[in-house]
Amino acid sequence: MAKTHEELIGRAEIDDLEAILSVSNTDVDEAIHAVKDNADAIFTWDYEKGAKPKLNRLYEKAKHSMWDGEKDLPWETEVDQEAVVMANAMQMGGLGYGMDLSGTCFEKWTDKEWIQLGCESQNWTLSQFMHGEQGALLCTAKIVETVPWIDAKYYASTQVMDEARHVEVFAKYLDTKLSGHYPINAHLKLLLDDIIADSRWDMTYLGMQIMVEGLALAAFGFIHQLTTEPLLKQLLRYVMSDEARHVAFGVLSLQDYYTELTQAELRERQEFAFEAAVRMRDRFLQQEVWDRMGLPVKEAVEIVQMSPERPVFQQMLFSKIVPNCKKLGLLDAGDGWLRTRFEELGVIQFEDWADTGEEYEAFALAEGDQRSA
Ligand SMILES: [Fe+2]
Ligand SMILES: [Fe+2]
Repeated sequence: MAKTHEELIGRAEIDDLEAILSVSNTDVDEAIHAVKDNADAIFTWDYEKGAKPKLNRLYEKAKHSMWDGEKDLPWETEVDQEAVVMANAMQMGGLGYGMDLSGTCFEKWTDKEWIQLGCESQNWTLSQFMHGEQGALLCTAKIVETVPWIDAKYYASTQVMDEARHVEVFAKYLDTKLSGHYPINAHLKLLLDDIIADSRWDMTYLGMQIMVEGLALAAFGFIHQLTTEPLLKQLLRYVMSDEARHVAFGVLSLQDYYTELTQAELRERQEFAFEAAVRMRDRFLQQEVWDRMGLPVKEAVEIVQMSPERPVFQQMLFSKIVPNCKKLGLLDAGDGWLRTRFEELGVIQFEDWADTGEEYEAFALAEGDQRSA
């Protein structure tokens, strides 16, 4: 029986703003959050190293690509957050959205409020990156336990270390260079909970390595290109060199496995990918920022959605996910169910962009890039 949108994403219409905004994080004061992890830990007695040659190559590469979050980044850099916001705004066509905002909730805003919004938005974005990185840390530790192949366990163990570094550097940047934290966004939390809770080992990969990290790689790339702040630029460069490997790990691990699945099993993967895509799209409305700025959230979101650069930015986020889903055969499995969903989301045009199976080489740090080396 085909699942309805209602069953998959909790609402009938993908763009139902009211429904999206009604989901909010109600546990913002909790210090820990427990999720039932339903999977079996799998031992393998087949220790043949290199049985999966591409994963083995990735593992060897990862061993030599470790950088040091404390030593390799120029933490002594002074960051003037307001100046960074101004510089970003100049590249995006100035403060405000280049729209006539009279008669809207932004009508009375001066440069001061726009700059404050920019700062809050940056605090929010980096906070969500940090929470997402912790999600990756937990998911990868889970993969070490659940994946049945030794080459994948080896590789996943290096990714655990990478993700610890990522959480560490985003947390340090937030604490020492920015002006505040945000709790995890409710949509991101729903997604991470679903990924962790799933009992099937490949769903951890699909949710994390393909969807969350695919989006992260695109988002980091966007900000890396935009920002003129040298510390953040370098931090993102380092993180991206790791993320490209992580996404490759997902593609290389799932590629063979998915050829063995039945149509019904593939359909479940398609549905999971769609659910993840929608959750990630929902989170980018950054509803918590509007709330903190004291604006009516729905009105603010509606206005931002109309700004000229918004659709381009939102779609760009899917530029890695769509080709990777295609490479895994998920786009066209069965009756092309996922292709139709990606058409609805307006992101199908990325299907023939470079997939990330091999692209990690291009993202690697150059010899001598690390200061500690
Ligand atoms: Fe990461
Ligand atoms: Fe990662």
